[in-house]
Amino acid sequence: MSSELFFTQSKLRELYLNFFESKGHLKLESFSLIPDYHDKSLLLINAGMAPLKKYFSGQEKPPSFRVTTCQKCVRTNDIENVGKTSRHATFFEMLGNFSFGDYFKDKAINWAWEFVTQILNLPKEKLFVTVYKDDDEAFEIWQKNIDAKKIFKMDKEDNFWEIGEGPCGPCSEIYFDRGEKFGCGEKNCGPGCDCDRFIEIWNLVFTQFNKNPDGSYSKLKQKNIDTGMGLERISVVMQNVNSIFEIDTMREIINKIADGAKINYGESEKKDIAIRIIADHIKAAVFMIADDIFISNEGRGYILRRLIRRALCRIKILNIEKKNFLAELIELVVKIFGDYYKNLADKKDEIAKIILDEEKKFNDVILGGLNIFMDLIEKTKEQGKNIISGKEAFKLHDTFGFNMDLMKEFASENEVMIDEKEFEIELEKQKERARKSQVNKNENGFLIEVQEEIKKLDATEFIGYENFEIGDAKIVMLIENDIGIKNEIRNEEQEFYIIFDKTIFFAEESGQISDSGILKTETGEAKIIDCKKIFGDKYIHKAKLISGFIKLEQTGNLKLDFEKRFCIARNHTATHLLHKILREKIFDETKQMGSYIDENYFRFDFLCKKVLSEKDLELIENELNKKIFESLEVKTEKKEINEAIDSGATALFDEKYRDIVRVVKIGNYSQELCSGTHVKNTAQINCFKIISESGVSAGIRRIEAVTGPKAIDFCNKRQKEILEACVLLKADKNNFLHKLKSFIDNDKKNKNKIARLENILSSEMAKKICDKCELINNMNFVFDSFDDFDLKFLRDVADKIKNKLKKCVVVLVNKNENKINLIFSRTDDLDLNANEIIKNLAYKFGGNGGGRKNYAQLGGINLNDLNLVVSEIKNVLLG
Ligand code: ALA
Repeated sequence: MSSELFFTQSKLRELYLNFFESKGHLKLESFSLIPDYHDKSLLLINAGMAPLKKYFSGQEKPPSFRVTTCQKCVRTNDIENVGKTSRHATFFEMLGNFSFGDYFKDKAINWAWEFVTQILNLPKEKLFVTVYKDDDEAFEIWQKNIDAKKIFKMDKEDNFWEIGEGPCGPCSEIYFDRGEKFGCGEKNCGPGCDCDRFIEIWNLVFTQFNKNPDGSYSKLKQKNIDTGMGLERISVVMQNVNSIFEIDTMREIINKIADGAKINYGESEKKDIAIRIIADHIKAAVFMIADDIFISNEGRGYILRRLIRRALCRIKILNIEKKNFLAELIELVVKIFGDYYKNLADKKDEIAKIILDEEKKFNDVILGGLNIFMDLIEKTKEQGKNIISGKEAFKLHDTFGFNMDLMKEFASENEVMIDEKEFEIELEKQKERARKSQVNKNENGFLIEVQEEIKKLDATEFIGYENFEIGDAKIVMLIENDIGIKNEIRNEEQEFYIIFDKTIFFAEESGQISDSGILKTETGEAKIIDCKKIFGDKYIHKAKLISGFIKLEQTGNLKLDFEKRFCIARNHTATHLLHKILREKIFDETKQMGSYIDENYFRFDFLCKKVLSEKDLELIENELNKKIFESLEVKTEKKEINEAIDSGATALFDEKYRDIVRVVKIGNYSQELCSGTHVKNTAQINCFKIISESGVSAGIRRIEAVTGPKAIDFCNKRQKEILEACVLLKADKNNFLHKLKSFIDNDKKNKNKIARLENILSSEMAKKICDKCELINNMNFVFDSFDDFDLKFLRDVADKIKNKLKKCVVVLVNKNENKINLIFSRTDDLDLNANEIIKNLAYKFGGNGGGRKNYAQLGGINLNDLNLVVSEIKNVLLG
């Protein structure tokens, strides 16, 4: 189809960018969907101007004062409408031309008019515009191009553009009239009406103001232009189709999904909605992953997960069982958009892997509930009701992790509701059970009234970077957890909490655990076990009395466990070196995703596209040890955040920093913003050894490592293990590998032998079991139970029975203590859904299970229920 069209989506993109290039604009590639590090007001880029905010405000100098882009955008605020209307999508491309303090209204309006009437050749009589009601200047300029009757004055709600914080201003929109047949027929239908007749194709924003975090507006230093033309929308107009899902690119995707579902697009509105949701969401997910957004349970990672899961549910509802369907769909999206967006093509395999992994996880955990939920909807409707019981919904939520958002969506698509009140009551009941002993405490674990008192204290002064012992820490609060604030502590059994006016104990932060040590006052001594910061600046020390007693307002001596502090410091400095080496030698776009540092070891999670090889690990170890041998000095300094970032210091992704930050510099090699404690010189790390490398989730790897004496211990331990293995193998150090190999060979031979014997045994058993066959509803039903066999063996027996009997259902049970595992297998000449039958049994009998249409297994059922389970299966067969 696309080859017959002149105005394909890609052609329109090209025409637009070329047109503005000819007007002196610098053509830039789309920015990433992840906003600038500084822009905390956005999770995802949602307009062409969003990545350019810094140029509008004059904060940074743009590469050119005129720029044009086609920007990838994601907006999910209208996600419920996607698929249901002709113009909603979560992912879209926005064409734009921008002026940063260069041209203003006159050129912006005249060029827009030139483009739509002379390049796109849209008939003038079908074009309308709107302006902000007080913007006489824009009105005047438009009047030179278009009849005043076709210029509509709108109020601030419609014609003042702002999105989150940042540059904004009055705007003017161009509409295309698609004709009466798309209209609502209302008398006042016109540009701005919600119906499909007047479609907004271009928004010209005259960016003069900045919206501040407190909601006020201030004037920008310069006057700017920001325009946005939805590429999909203009494609709808130019291709003369009804919706953004019918333009050339989307049509291909829609056809692919309809094919997979074996339905004709356009026959059933309900199914069409599902198809459109799949198309939009998978496309959005592909683009997001290509921009390094990772699936998670928060922030943009959660948006990505939600999009994928919403799509997966629709794939399930449409019963798409075509093998490799999802992989092919992803490939198609990449094929269509990969020419222009090169990173899609480059990261094709990784994108597929991430989505397919999520599919697997989703299938395992949640889809089990979907069928039951659909049955629940049917049952509710059959009973003439339109409200699903909240108790039932809660049970599903509890068993399958089926979340309320999804349930509500499916319910509303099927015109029923969920009794949310009843659901909430059940949820509350469950929380109550979990809470029991936690009454009256908040997340810090202190009684509410204690929290209030803590809040009133002055900030604790932290002087622990330079001091390891101080003699004048004043006790400003003592707390016993379940009792409250105390004047003195005499109980040696009970742990308590203590706050000083100043402290040397580092409070757990950014992965580094806290210090510990000793407090001495004139009347007693206590161990400081742990230290946490709450309310931003109050250091709460967990302590236990060693001797005597401790009183409020005493002045005490604090002493660090220096050995522990030093081991932590070794590990912490090593994480900085590791971070830098990963970036330099392994993957230059890596980012730290998390870390944990204690006195024994550390772990470091980071973005990485590949599994590290033994060679990579060796390289990392060598490089890091090299930095240790170079004895690089470690220095810290305080800087203004922007200055620190500009001078090249690495900041942690998504971390919130204060205005003044601490920068840790290792020689001239690494600079990171960090509040942790470090060694003074890399030589103090002594040595570094990686103890493991693994995957945490898609695209995120973890290195665990040790330093100093722990690294030497680790190597010694490995060596000892080899010596022990030598003893077991009766080999000496020099030939133990050879011996081990022959053991493994032998083991393989034995396994083969066992397999051959099992094969003979399973044939014998199959023969015997066949004799017990019962005829139920014209089907051969075979059942037997065993003690302590593995499922693979049972499957083998079942296959052999199926080879002997036609129209046959085999149910075999393995008993293990007082639990059973069961397999359900059927011949292909029957039309029974094994997966559904087993899922329903699991739901009823409290086990877990599932599988395919012709084979499924069930586990975790009580032996006592065996007879009931079998008679339930027989009932199903009876129909
Ligand atoms: N920033 C304007 C919009 O997104 C052009 O509509």
